Order: sequence, then structure tokens, then C-alpha cells
Amino acid sequence: MSEHPKDGRFRDKPPEAYRDPDLNPYLKLHREFGRPALTAGDAAAIGHGWATEFGRAAPLHVEIGAGNGFFLSGMSAAHPEQDWLGLEIRFKRVVQTARKLVAAGVSNARVARYDGRQLDDLLAQGSVAGLYINHPDPWPKDRHAKNRLFHPDFVDACARWLAPGARLRLKTDFVGHIEALTALTDGRPLAVVGRSDHIERDGAPWGEDDVVTNYQGKFDRRGLPVYALWVARDG
Ligand SMILES: C[S@@+](CC[C@H](N)C(=O)[O-])C[C@H]1O[C@@H](n2cnc3c(N)ncnc32)[C@H](O)[C@@H]1O
Repeated sequence: MSEHPKDGRFRDKPPEAYRDPDLNPYLKLHREFGRPALTAGDAAAIGHGWATEFGRAAPLHVEIGAGNGFFLSGMSAAHPEQDWLGLEIRFKRVVQTARKLVAAGVSNARVARYDGRQLDDLLAQGSVAGLYINHPDPWPKDRHAKNRLFHPDFVDACARWLAPGARLRLKTDFVGHIEALTALTDGRPLAVVGRSDHIERDGAPWGEDDVVTNYQGKFDRRGLPVYALWVARDG
């Protein structure tokens, strides 16, 4: 059974569909963790019902590719008035992020194992108050370009999910992502409202309300640039 059926809906594979389901202990751990971790099935069952899941109607902020969870736990702790949803495709990182959310003691965040490119099941049109993409995999070699996140369909989807006037923040060590997203705003209801070519040196266009991610820290420590792009959905 595929996790990417043709209808564009991401789903868990049942444990018996793996040749050796015990090979990755995080497969079981992520299933048994419970809130704040969500399996793909849990997330799909919530669907667009995030207000019900969080027990209130609050602005929904979404991070794609939560990694180890530094950003999601830090931002959700800093903004108790907002609800936060992190998406992460790797079992281990879902568990690591969920552990960070528990350690931070936040009740306004969840992390779901889901493909960040296939979020229409989870995100209603215009439902997202802020979208955050931190260090998406770079795939710098030309022959891997098809794996890069910023394709027309994905950027169309971002424009669909964002509420009018809401913003997308991209941080990346790969300037190719900045160039691709900038080019893809053309002809879409999106506009670049800020850019930085070295966040540590020049600051980010959105100012201080930010958390240094695990990958960002690695580049900062080596004195290498981390780029930022700030994109607004037309109001
Ligand atoms: C380079 S890491 C960056 C992690 C974190 N955002 C940071 O800045 O430290 C990219 C992350 O995106 C996740 N990822 C890659 N493709 C994804 C997808 N289609 N949906 C959700 N997460 C994805 C990877 O598993 C990985 O955790």
C-alpha cells in the first residue's frame, strides 16, 4: 500500500505493509506516543477541524518539515494565543518534536506525520495565519531538482492555504530555494515583502519574533549565510 495514493491523500501504511516493521523503532513509538503527536491517520481524521482539536478558535500557524522541533516548540511556547501544527515526514523526527512539545509544556501545538506537499486534507482554503518552512531539503544537484519543494503545484497550494494577508516565512541555506519561490510568486496572488541574504549578520525581514532552528544553528556556527524570504498572500 502506498503512502501517496493517486488521489493525493497521504496515509499511514499499516505496520504489516513494511518488510520489517521493527527495523525503525520510531514507527511504533510515533503510533503509541499520543498527543501532541499525530499519525497520518489521526491527522486525516481531524481533517479541517483544528478548532475542535485545540478546543478553541485561534489563528493556525503551520510549519512544514519540523525536524527536531526546536522551532515548533519555541514558537508555540512564545505564542500561547496561537495554535501551531507541525508536519514532518520522518517517524523519528515526529517523536523528537513531540518530546520537545511535552518538555515545553505547551497545549497549543501538535506534530503530525504527514507529507507537507499534500495538505489539502488538513488545511482548508484560507485557514492558515502563518506558514513556516525552515531549511527544506536542498537537493542542490541538477539531476535531483525534481525533488525540490518549490514547484508550481506546491506554491499554488500555499496560496490556497494562506488566509488573505497572511504570510509565509522561508529560511534556507540554499539560495536556489529563495530564487525558485521568488520566481513562482509571479502570476500568483503572492508578493515578496522581504528578503535577507544573511540572517545572522543582517537580521530577518520579520524581525526578532523567531527561533533559530537546528539546521540554522549549524550554518550560523560555521559563519555561512542563512537566507530568508517573506511572502504575503494578497489581501
Ligand atoms: C533539512 S531538515 C530541516 C529541519 C528543521 N526545519 C530545521 O531547520 O532544523 C528538512 C526536514 O524536512 C523534512 N521533510 C522533508 N520532506 C518533507 C515532506 N514532504 N513533508 C514533511 N516534512 C518533510 C525532513 O524529514 C527533515 O526533517
